[in-house]
Amino acid sequence: MAYVQIDGAVKFFGREAGEDMLVLGKVSFDAKENGTTCLLGPSGCGKSTLLNVISGLETLDQGRVRIVSQRNHRDDSPRIGYVFQDPRLLNWKRVEGNLVFALKGMKVPPAEWEGRIHKYLKLVDLVEFRQQHPLYLSGGMRQRVGLARALVIEPEVLLMDEPYSKLDQLTARKLREDTLLICAGLKQTTLLVTHDVEEAAYMGDRIVILSARPARVIEIVENPLPPADRDLDDLNFIEFKKHLLKLVLQSVQ
Ligand SMILES: Nc1ncnc2c1ncn2[C@@H]1O[C@H](COP(=O)(O)OP(=O)(O)O)[C@@H](O)[C@H]1O
Ligand SMILES: [Mg+2]
Repeated sequence: MAYVQIDGAVKFFGREAGEDMLVLGKVSFDAKENGTTCLLGPSGCGKSTLLNVISGLETLDQGRVRIVSQRNHRDDSPRIGYVFQDPRLLNWKRVEGNLVFALKGMKVPPAEWEGRIHKYLKLVDLVEFRQQHPLYLSGGMRQRVGLARALVIEPEVLLMDEPYSKLDQLTARKLREDTLLICAGLKQTTLLVTHDVEEAAYMGDRIVILSARPARVIEIVENPLPPADRDLDDLNFIEFKKHLLKLVLQSVQ
């Protein structure tokens, strides 16, 4: 179990070229244990940058990110799973090979591989496609492989960067439902980035509303509905979505 603390995160791009484009303008929030925090903000506001900072792919100019984990020892950094907008699979490896690659990278003992591969392919409903190469799968299935690859390392923190934005509406809807169920059954702290208000209302236990670039926190909203009660056609859900939309619209005026 782990939680993530972002404290006064400031990030510039283009400093080397003397351009100083501010992308993160003192962003602070916490992502709680065992829940999903959605980062909701317009395109280009700095959401992917924020996830990259949390995962250690980018560094901050000011402020800090702390991942507070029960496992935190000096030489034992927290396990982070990352689901990208494009699944970023190794197309020359079979589905199972993609998962093995992640397991090897995390130094998971080979004796555990088989059990884990089966468990997480089952969760994403891809057991029969284990020997397939990614290019023979549909976009939705590839994104499921990306999710299984992130989960197979049993991450303490799961980062998801607009994972449904390139899928058709029905595929995205089904994958959101499945991801919500999967995440509710696993113990990890999830951060999901989106520019879609409905997706944030559906997926997020809390929603951090971000401004246009430079990203600043406008408001943090708790979802009054537990995951099991989130139904796109339900009046309470629609009310909450409207409330969120109002806050987002106010923030751009
Ligand atoms: N490595 C980089 N170098 C320079 N500029 C970048 C880099 N990564 C992102 N940017 C710029 O930073 C801004 C925020 O990008 P990003 O975090 O990808 O936004 P979002 O994910 O919210 O759409 C954009 O204007 C983008 O062009
Ligand atoms: Mg992005």
